[in-house]
Amino acid sequence: GIIDEEQYDYLFKIVLIGESGVGKSNMLSRFTKNEFNLESKATIGVEFATKCITSNNKTIKAQIWDTAGQERFRAITSSYYKGAMGALLVFDISKKQTFENLDRWLNEVRAFTKPEVCIILVGNKSDLAYMREVPTDEALKYAVQQKIPYFETSALAATNVEKVFEELLVGIA
Ligand code: GTP
Ligand code: MG
Repeated sequence: GIIDEEQYDYLFKIVLIGESGVGKSNMLSRFTKNEFNLESKATIGVEFATKCITSNNKTIKAQIWDTAGQERFRAITSSYYKGAMGALLVFDISKKQTFENLDRWLNEVRAFTKPEVCIILVGNKSDLAYMREVPTDEALKYAVQQKIPYFETSALAATNVEKVFEELLVGIA
């Protein structure tokens, strides 16, 4: 209920980042509402959602920020990252270009957050395996180089979406 949702031990701000169309907004709606939209529109500005999880008898409230991958639709970068304790850096396993631009996003999140920020690399759209352009081992190699964990998800099939959010939140706590 409404009262219960205000009872939490930790409040963590996390951000979703990555190129336009990789599925950030659908990961968010899958996690917070168990909803998926095949025809979702590109995000303009910033959207938010919250969700509580429990871990070790503690309630963690996640305040999740989702912004536009498209530069022209993005809100002011410094305010987007302000206070963020974790980030899901998302690319699309079926679009190489979204993987090739990861450096840019990593540089940005590292520039605007504290050094202890938790980052997880996410290869979304694992249901599109037959269209895969980024081999799992290539993504893993990049993640190891960057010292961040790597997971593959599907917002469509609801595979691993909860897991990556929970890994991030538990990693922060
Ligand atoms: P921007 O808001 O422009 O930055 O894009 P976004 O990263 O928020 O992408 P969005 O969630 O809007 O998804 C873009 C398209 O990919 C939509 O047509 C979604 O339905 C589709 N999509 C998202 N996740 C998945 C997935 O796991 N599998 C498949 N097959 N399609 C997905
Ligand atoms: Mg979006």
